[in-house]
Amino acid sequence: MVGVAQLVEPLTVTQVVEGSSPFIHPILRLFFPLNMPSHFTVLVFKLKFGVIFLAGHILPFKPFPILLTEPSEPPPEIKYLINKGDYRLIDTDDTSEACLLIYNDRRLNLQLRTTNKPLQLCIDFINGKAKHRRQYGGGKNQPLAKACGLNKHPDWSILDATAGLGKDAFVLASLGAQVTLCERHPALYGLLADALDRATHDSSVADIADRMKCIYQDSITHLNTYQHINSKLPDIIYLDPMYPERKKSAKIKKEMQVLQYLVAHNSNNNELLETALKTAMHRVVVKRPKSAAPLNECFPSYTINSVNTRYDVYVNS
Ligand SMILES: C[S@@+](CC[C@H](N)C(=O)[O-])C[C@H]1O[C@@H](n2cnc3c(N)ncnc32)[C@H](O)[C@@H]1O
Repeated sequence: MVGVAQLVEPLTVTQVVEGSSPFIHPILRLFFPLNMPSHFTVLVFKLKFGVIFLAGHILPFKPFPILLTEPSEPPPEIKYLINKGDYRLIDTDDTSEACLLIYNDRRLNLQLRTTNKPLQLCIDFINGKAKHRRQYGGGKNQPLAKACGLNKHPDWSILDATAGLGKDAFVLASLGAQVTLCERHPALYGLLADALDRATHDSSVADIADRMKCIYQDSITHLNTYQHINSKLPDIIYLDPMYPERKKSAKIKKEMQVLQYLVAHNSNNNELLETALKTAMHRVVVKRPKSAAPLNECFPSYTINSVNTRYDVYVNS
């Protein structure tokens, strides 16, 4: 009989297959509860007697490159993602990455180097547009707040299942709602977690930040957990799925360029809407461009319009 030791020696890795593909998605889903394209690494070992052995791992995303440029420590959540392997530390002289996170000046930035002039993005809940909208945004009568029912039910809890850059979630939290932000992209989640960490330490927005909680998970997976745990269902589920952008890239806003680069092709919006409709206690709100068809051709109970945007409201009870 051939012993294991005999078989394994000499152990040679003949091939490393690495990839990221939506095409393996349906097959993987038979074995893993993933709702997104996945990154996989498979090592092919050639053993004795022509025996081949495969080993590997599957991550929801390829480890995202991060550059730490200063001695100050990043927030605990960022360190956790580095230790967990969702982020991959790179050196200052590594210029090969088209898109990377940079921890610099006590904040996490995302840099996109696909154009001549690199784009840099950082989420800021304290100053800039967030501050302006907090002060002059129209309060509970603005369309987003009305669509989420905050004008009549200020204590409703909201799950923002497509958190992105957290802009809508911040508006809702600044109007008094408890908002859970669910984001599955590692870089966007990191930017959110870092911005929230800074906001909780700033007296002008700390009370708002305390009403916001970030979760790093696919929202469909997260919503499905409500079937198994005895936890209060979210009153509102808010969805703002990516919409194919028609404008030429030079004219698109910086934020949209970054979102398009990172997440444009990862979409399972129809399944997300179906799951949200099954889970929300009171309503599901979907943000759409004004002239777009309803998501999944599923017609809402009613709509609320603003200049370029339409909120489709699906009332559950
Ligand atoms: C258009 S952006 C949302 C922008 C956001 N409303 C804001 O105010 O900044 C869509 C985001 O949803 C995230 N997303 C899409 N499907 C998701 C899912 N199933 N689970 C978690 N996040 C998802 C994407 O990664 C992307 O960041």
